[in-house]
Amino acid sequence: MMARGARALAWARIVAGTAALCAACAEVRPVASVAPTFERDVRPTLEARCGQCHGARRPAAGWSASRFTDVIACVPASTDGGVPDAGAWPSRLAAALARPDHQGLLDDAQRALIARWIAAGAPAARGAMHPPGFSDPRSADFHARSLRSQRWAPMLDATRAEACGRCHEGSPARPAGVTGAAGDAPSCTSCHEQPGGPLSCGTCHGDGERATPPRDPCLFPGASPSAGAHEAHLRASPLHASPFTCETCHPSRTADFTGAHGDGVVDLAFDAERAGDGGTYDPATRTCTVGCHRQGGARPTPAWNELGPMRCNDCHSSPPANHPRGECVACHAEPDATGSSLRPGPLHLNARVDLGNGNGTCTACHGRTGDMDPWPETGSHTAHRAPSGGAPVACATCHTVPTRTEDPSHFEAAPRAAVRLTGAAGARGARPMYDTTTRSCAEVACHGAGLAGTRADVPTWGDPSGVARRCGQCHGVPPAPPHTTRTDCASLICHGGEVALSPSGPVITAAGRALHQNGVIDYAGAGP
Ligand code: HEC
Ligand code: HEC
Ligand code: HEC
Ligand code: HEC
Ligand code: HEC
Ligand code: HEC
Ligand code: HEC
Ligand code: HEC
Ligand code: HEC
Ligand code: HEC
Repeated sequence: MMARGARALAWARIVAGTAALCAACAEVRPVASVAPTFERDVRPTLEARCGQCHGARRPAAGWSASRFTDVIACVPASTDGGVPDAGAWPSRLAAALARPDHQGLLDDAQRALIARWIAAGAPAARGAMHPPGFSDPRSADFHARSLRSQRWAPMLDATRAEACGRCHEGSPARPAGVTGAAGDAPSCTSCHEQPGGPLSCGTCHGDGERATPPRDPCLFPGASPSAGAHEAHLRASPLHASPFTCETCHPSRTADFTGAHGDGVVDLAFDAERAGDGGTYDPATRTCTVGCHRQGGARPTPAWNELGPMRCNDCHSSPPANHPRGECVACHAEPDATGSSLRPGPLHLNARVDLGNGNGTCTACHGRTGDMDPWPETGSHTAHRAPSGGAPVACATCHTVPTRTEDPSHFEAAPRAAVRLTGAAGARGARPMYDTTTRSCAEVACHGAGLAGTRADVPTWGDPSGVARRCGQCHGVPPAPPHTTRTDCASLICHGGEVALSPSGPVITAAGRALHQNGVIDYAGAGP
């Protein structure tokens, strides 16, 4: 690249040479050069002879004859996989023209024209204004180089003598009163087709639509290929389904170059909401020390140019050391059961450890997804959540309920979900038991234990038959003597109000549910 002083001198020369013309820019007629140029001579020939198959859209072999930068691009861009050989395009074009199927396409004069154009440095549109390589990113004279060495002042400051906007349409700043183009000056937007023209975010550090490095390795063979870590961070992935933005790692930037943007120093500032507090980047080793990666895994401080995907054990071990045992899915919504893959979702890498669906309550893991009801739908839970003949049964009747998720009793107890029957289940001195093998309950007061003359029911957890709900299952209807043998228990005198008669037999009324199976024998709708 040219030193800053030499570049300034070159500009001085160009500007001096054109100053007279520039005073009346609209009338500029640059002296036509003898060498053929792309715009004037080559493009019409290529469009006529090659455009049919090598047009702008879906060109054959990926080589388009319609735009200058496409014509001088590596031919074809991707066959060899690696970084294309930038210098090779003219010889590959020549080779193509020598192919049997291409040989007859150009006459001798047209072939000679193309040869002369290449020999002259393949200028895009050369008049007296700019040096030959002005449109070729690989040339030392490429316009972007001199623009950058001046922090783009010629295109941003319309008052300068060499301001691009004096002669070119589509330049970000044009002097007052100047419209149209000087002579053959092409509009900047004829090549800079993105909505922002030359100021679009991909112009100085990306590739067309893409704002981030790397640049096209064909046009910028010296550019750092390690810029690839941008892609890994900006594309959505199961690791971070909610996308990162430039502001996750950089200060916010607009097309304003009066401050630190474009000053030659890459600025990094990590967003604490995403990366945790105190994230840093070391430009010497190119390593990041951020909460996203530093979680006790195998690669806690990765380098920006490190290759290969990030695996589950790289940031944290999977599961972390001394972790509650069990399938990950019992406690986390995004991993698979073994912690070797992630489903796309908003919870991973959001700078917060999420349990279950992330709602922060017991229902994050318990109950149906999407509501705040903690009742599991497994086994006979639903029957106990809203029994037809009694009041809802509290979790604490059957389980030791943790007050906080992290309580040791919650995850550490063995067996998991130990059923410990207490409260109403042990009324009347009953000693209720749950058998994990048969999944059945015995000696439960709610199911009749401790009632005179009754053998308690032994219901099976998850039995779908509904038999455990039947009158007569837990106690006789009526119970054995000395209970009366009368069957009109719905009469007001004894249990009236608690029981009603229906065509299919006696039922517990809505009001009666509070009294029935509550551990207390109730008479006449009230306690004894
Ligand atoms: C009738 C359609 C057609 C026309 C007209 C045509 N080409 Fe091609 N060209 C092709 C096809 C098809 C390929 C790809 C051949 C292959 O991959 O084997 C190709 C390949 C090429 C390549 C890529 C060679 C490589 O290295 O892979 C270049 C360069 C090229 N053509 C230049 C030209 C030029 C210059 C013209 C006009 C003078 C032209 N073509 C006219 C069909 C055409
Ligand atoms: C004094 C008028 C004038 C100024 C100032 C000027 N240009 Fe040009 N530019 C032209 C003309 C006229 C052409 C058409 C080709 C020619 O005659 O040289 C041109 C062509 C170009 C081309 C295309 C092709 C090529 O290979 O020559 C580019 C790119 C370009 N200018 C960029 C710029 C940039 C960037 C600036 C500001 C830094 C700038 N020009 C300032 C008049 C000007
Ligand atoms: C003949 C095509 C062509 C024309 C016309 C053209 N450019 Fe460019 N310009 C390019 C190419 C190719 C690049 C490389 C980056 C890219 O691919 O976008 C580039 C890069 C740039 C850059 C990036 C500078 C950096 O720091 O990397 C700026 C700024 C720029 N052009 C400004 C202008 C302005 C202003 C005009 C009009 C006065 C203009 N260009 C006209 C082809 C052109
Ligand atoms: C995950 C963090 C992260 C995100 C997100 C990110 N960057 Fe970067 N970027 C970096 C790091 C780290 C570097 C420094 C690389 C180096 O040392 O060369 C960098 C360097 C750069 C550079 C200078 C590199 C060069 O080769 O000139 C530019 C320009 C840049 N980023 C633009 C962007 C833009 C634009 C976005 C958003 C579209 C973005 N970055 C998003 C981390 C990030
Ligand atoms: C005219 C050239 C140019 C344009 C246009 C441009 N940038 Fe940059 N930008 C740079 C350069 C050069 C750097 C490399 C670091 C530096 O020099 O500050 C950079 C760096 C960055 C960085 C890294 C943080 C920093 O300042 O170091 C971000 C983020 C960024 N640009 C975003 C954008 C966005 C968003 C846009 C579009 C609105 C944009 N840039 C347009 C030249 C440009
Ligand atoms: C880039 C580093 C990184 C990689 C790679 C990574 N994780 Fe994570 N993981 C984190 C961070 C940081 C947290 C802390 C909480 C947060 O930000 O979401 C986390 C949290 C978790 C959690 C707890 C729930 C949560 O989201 O808070 C689970 C489960 C998890 N990761 C599983 C995995 C699995 C499975 C893989 C492999 C597919 C994996 N992680 C790969 C960084 C990573
Ligand atoms: C029985 C419940 C339970 C199971 C099973 C479980 N986790 Fe966790 N996990 C937790 C709890 C609770 C936390 C929160 C710990 C904290 O905040 O300190 C957590 C936090 C995490 C974290 C984040 C931070 C850390 O380093 O502690 C990761 C990563 C994680 N779990 C991964 C996994 C993986 C992978 C699996 C499956 C192999 C798994 N967990 C299985 C309950 C569980
Ligand atoms: C009537 C007794 C009873 C009540 C009330 C009860 N559970 Fe259970 N629960 C059980 C039984 C029995 C099992 C099955 C244990 C086995 O698999 O051996 C169980 C299992 C569980 C399990 C293990 C996973 C599963 O679904 O099998 C969880 C978690 C659980 N219960 C949570 C709750 C919560 C939360 C409540 C209150 C909202 C509750 N239980 C109310 C008896 C009950
Ligand atoms: C991170 C997910 C998660 C959260 C949050 C959670 N639990 Fe659990 N809970 C579990 C798992 C897993 C089991 C064990 C089930 C199994 O092994 O099948 C369990 C078991 C239970 C059991 C039955 C087992 C026992 O310990 O006897 C109850 C009751 C229970 N949890 C209540 C609660 C309450 C109350 C909260 C809120 C303070 C809560 N849970 C928060 C995951 C969670
Ligand atoms: C799941 C076991 C069970 C089933 C099924 C059951 N009961 Fe009961 N019932 C009891 C228990 C236990 C008592 C003892 C008092 C208590 O704990 O409330 C009781 C008591 C009663 C009483 C006395 C009043 C009271 O509440 O103390 C009446 C009346 C009664 N049951 C009627 C019925 C009728 C009618 C049905 C059928 C619709 C029925 N029961 C089904 C368990 C059951």
